[in-house]
Order: sequence, then structure tokens, then C-alpha cells
Amino acid sequence: MSLLTIDEYLRQPVAERLPYYQKEDRLYHVMMSQQFPRPLMEEIFGVANTLKAMSHDYEGLEFLSRLLRHKRGMLYFTQPSTRTFLSFLTACQLVGITTGEVQDPALSSEYKGESQEDAIRVFSSYFDLVIMRDPKPGFCEYIAYRQDRTGFSVPILNGGSGKDQHPTQALLDLYTMHRSFQRMGGISGKRYAFVGDLQRGRAVRSVMYLLANYEDLDFYAVAPKGFQISPDLQLHLEERGVRLHFTDQLNEVLPEVDCIYMTRIQDEYDLSGESGKIDLASFSLTEENVNLLPEHAIILHPLPRRQEISSGIDANPRAMYWSQLRNGVYIRAALLLYIFGKNEQLPIIQEKYSS
Ligand code: CP
Repeated sequence: MSLLTIDEYLRQPVAERLPYYQKEDRLYHVMMSQQFPRPLMEEIFGVANTLKAMSHDYEGLEFLSRLLRHKRGMLYFTQPSTRTFLSFLTACQLVGITTGEVQDPALSSEYKGESQEDAIRVFSSYFDLVIMRDPKPGFCEYIAYRQDRTGFSVPILNGGSGKDQHPTQALLDLYTMHRSFQRMGGISGKRYAFVGDLQRGRAVRSVMYLLANYEDLDFYAVAPKGFQISPDLQLHLEERGVRLHFTDQLNEVLPEVDCIYMTRIQDEYDLSGESGKIDLASFSLTEENVNLLPEHAIILHPLPRRQEISSGIDANPRAMYWSQLRNGVYIRAALLLYIFGKNEQLPIIQEKYSS
């Protein structure tokens, strides 16, 4: 049986590709937000809550560090990262996974002409999972497909795939919303603004896909002309009954929303300097306009930020972006436990830590 090329593989509809990423009805490869129905997502949130509580004392940390001590994880990041790389590294350490890493392919045998496909085949011979970031949309999906067809497979986790998806970022974003809104009726029935580069931002794409699992939602898509959400995502949201409002007038939207998700203009994907024409001030939160938000509203950002959130807002009680990035460690550790079937061991001592 010959292997499909990456283009042939990605031409298959998402609904046909999704089952490839399961093993025995269990999540195996983590590729995109559409793999996470609400019950699975909320199960992972529960595990993350337990991990968070257990991480506060020596006994809890000792217990967690034994759970996956027999596993090794490879971090392969060919696109720059601070948070995703370090929070996955910390998550691995929390649950006892030992790690290896390649962040600069020029220091690996790729320098000598080895293909990425062969490099990842090597990683999967030495490690029990591969966490990867790559600038090419869909590349990690293709790697998962190739591995499974060539008979040597370990779980592949997508830590960011070009302009396409960033599913673990979306999970930690939803986890932050879930915790923030738990005394306000939850995530459903809320109004969300998404601001900035909604076309090329993989984090904001993934978070919208994931949020669409909830009901009775309004999304305000606040973007410069030419940077609005793409047709595939718009169709998905409409099919899920999300009420979409498109605008470029940020200040008019601020009083209306319960959550604002700010994003950076992704100028690394510019073809001819198109980002340079954007009036950045029109898509920024400042110490003046932030007070147009309701008092209970929360401000999220996947980070890194530039000017789109003034640092003067960091002490504002609505600013949740620092908690959001801390939540990344617990969500990613919870996901690792889930993939290796260890989440079931947690309830044994969960009661002690939830009291
Ligand atoms: N949010 C996020 O993906 O950040 P990094 O690029 O620093 O990993």
C-alpha cells in the first residue's frame, strides 16, 4: 500500500481524518479542537483541577511524579515558542516524564539533509510521545498518518501547526473560562469578543472551534479588513448555532461582552507587508477603553503580546492572561495523563485534595 502525499492526505474532509487520531475509542494523537467533545474536555478540566490542588504539597507532587515515570517525551519545535515549549516541559516533569528536545534543526541531522519525516521516525524509536510545533499547516497530522501506516506509532501532540490549529492552547483557554465563569453560570450563554488577526491566528481559530461545543453563544469578531475569520471556521460556527457579529469597531463591542480574547497580528505570515497597513490602535486595549468592559468581564490573550494590551492593564482585575498561561501546565499534564490512561488513578486521592 503506497502512502498518500501530504496534499492528498489533507484533501480528505476533517470528519474522515478525525477517527485516525483515536486508538480503541480513546484519544491518541492530539491534532485539532474538533477532537474534543464537551464531556471529554470537561473530564480533562477535572483532572487539571486535581493536579493543580495536588501540586501545592510535597506528598501530592511525589505522587504525581511517579505516574508516568516509565515514559519518555520528545519536544520537537521547529517554530519559536516560549509558553508552549516550557509548559509542556514542566507538565512532563510534573507527571514524571523524562524529556529530550530539538528546537534548532540545524543542530540535528536535518542539517545533513535528513527529512523531517525520518527525524520524527527516529524520535518515535527513542521516545513514547512526540510534542511538536511546525510552521506547515497539517504537517503534524500527516506525520501521525505516516507513522500509523508504517507500523511504528507513538502519540503525536500538536503544539501549533502554522496558521491552522493550536488545540492545547485552546484547551487551556477554555479551562480558564470554565474556572472564571463557574460562579456565573458557566461558559454557555455568554458573549465573547475575538480581536485582531482572526484569519491567521491558530490559537483563536482553535478556541472558537472548541467554544462552539457550548450553547447560546454570541461571538463578536473584531478584525481589520482582510483579517476576518476564514470560511471553514465561519461555516462550522454557523452550523453549531453560534450568533456571529462581524465588526472593526472595538469600542462599540466592549460594553457588550463577558470575555474578550485579544490576539497579536501574525505578521510572520505576511506575503507582502500587508500587516503594515493595519491601524493597530483600533484593535488594542488601553487603560482608557478597558473600562468600557463590564466589571465582571475577563481579558484573555494566548500571548506573546505586543501593543494590543497595554502593560498598564496587567493589574486590572479583569486581566486573566497570566493565570491563563499558568493553567497551561495543568491542562497539558492532564492531557498527558489522559493519553496514557493514568487519569483514572487520580480519584483514589482526589478527595483529600478537593476538600
Ligand atoms: N501561546 C503560545 O503558543 O505561546 P508561545 O508561542 O510562546 O508558545
